[in-house]
Amino acid sequence: MEAEAFLDEVLARVKTFLSESQDNSMIRPNISHDSLSRTVDLKLPIEGRGINAALDDIELFLRNSVRTTAPGFMNPLWGGLSVAAIAGELVTAATNTAMYTYEIAPIATLVESSILKRMAELADFGTAQGTLTTGGSNGNLLGLLCARQAKFPLSNHTGFNGENVVAFVSEECHYSFGIASNVIGIGSSNLIKVRCNQEGQMRPDSLEEEIERAIRNGQTPFAVLATSGTTVRGSFDPLRELATVAHKHHLWMHVDAAWGGSALFSPTYRSLMDGIELADSFCWDAHKMMGIPLICSAFIVKDAEILRTVCSTGDDAHYLYHESAERVDLGRYSLQCGRRNDALKLWLTWREIGDAGWASMLDTFMGLADYLQHQIEANEYLEMVSERMWTNVCFRYVGVGQAQDLNQINAELRERIIRDGRFMVSRSTVGGKIILRSVIANRSITEQSLDAFLDCVVSLGKDIERGLPQQ
Ligand SMILES: Cc1ncc(COP(=O)(O)O)c(C=O)c1O
Repeated sequence: MEAEAFLDEVLARVKTFLSESQDNSMIRPNISHDSLSRTVDLKLPIEGRGINAALDDIELFLRNSVRTTAPGFMNPLWGGLSVAAIAGELVTAATNTAMYTYEIAPIATLVESSILKRMAELADFGTAQGTLTTGGSNGNLLGLLCARQAKFPLSNHTGFNGENVVAFVSEECHYSFGIASNVIGIGSSNLIKVRCNQEGQMRPDSLEEEIERAIRNGQTPFAVLATSGTTVRGSFDPLRELATVAHKHHLWMHVDAAWGGSALFSPTYRSLMDGIELADSFCWDAHKMMGIPLICSAFIVKDAEILRTVCSTGDDAHYLYHESAERVDLGRYSLQCGRRNDALKLWLTWREIGDAGWASMLDTFMGLADYLQHQIEANEYLEMVSERMWTNVCFRYVGVGQAQDLNQINAELRERIIRDGRFMVSRSTVGGKIILRSVIANRSITEQSLDAFLDCVVSLGKDIERGLPQQ
């Protein structure tokens, strides 16, 4: 088959997959790891099978994938479909390049720069610079690296002894901060978890106490790490108050807005991130709420020179970087060498819908989350488990029976929902209670799909209470 005809065939299959995903049927094949690995042929052959065989392989792959654009997909903090972004992925692959120099990625460099500039403007960060990264986890790592560089300017050359150096983070922060503290050399026990209030927000008074305690103990604080949109509850830390404490002690302030960054678009919800302009750096995942296919994530820093120093290699990369492009090569601001163009898909979508489109997307998502919350509150078999600030809806099945182990029931319920295959939500724990966390971050979700989801939860919950096996 000619390459063009082959690509048409592939596209036809992808289009069918995407359109089938919109009806509310099975979104996940119910097959175990063992069965799948026993039943599919994945061996890499000695002799090639030819390009036509790739069509069968693609069919196999699609058939055994989770339909993350389906309305029932509410599991992680991402999902849904942007057609413009899929087009962007295709063009990115077809124009395959690396983002290190303007020379090899001319238009892509400008596209990425324009995205970073706009994101920085939305946060009132002035002429800040940044880079697209491999995700919020790496954005948090870069935030900590920049903070380390600011406090210990020689650390990029001579290394440093992080044994007594501490950073402060919300007790509900994302786990990537633990990994980042390991990577930058302070170790996870030097990441001090600060107490949260009832709503899951880091408490400024507790931050102050922890910093003073650390100083009294002879430790050296260097960073405050706030979160806009926590992973489980979707809480937003009070940035302005936290920044006041951080600045009083001359500490770097980084904000993990991987999940909540989209609040910056919305006249209604921007106040959740009030004070972001006082931070030194932040990260923001376009591959979460904005529905851009993974990976698409930004790290923005006010003082670009610090990021440049963190990523500096002297003249070691003489085969790539030359004086003439000193100020335009994006690779000088990245931990990566080869780096894919993640900007195009976001840029195409942003151009399609504008800032206004993102704001109305958020209004729609919040409206759906309100709807889900109200339906849960009106249902005698269910209860909300946490206050809601964002589109994370944390709830559990309580049933009507007494003296049941609700943790056991909800753990089993989550298993049954996954086996049922029509919906996916995550299982988390809030205050010792096992809960279901459903997240609205998928443009296919509707009030009808949410009703069907709750019907499914209640029906499976009743089966468990009655001791019935799954049908
Ligand atoms: C609050 C928060 N920060 C950071 C991350 C990590 O982002 P990524 O998966 O893009 O590395 C997540 C992931 O869910 C998150 O919820």
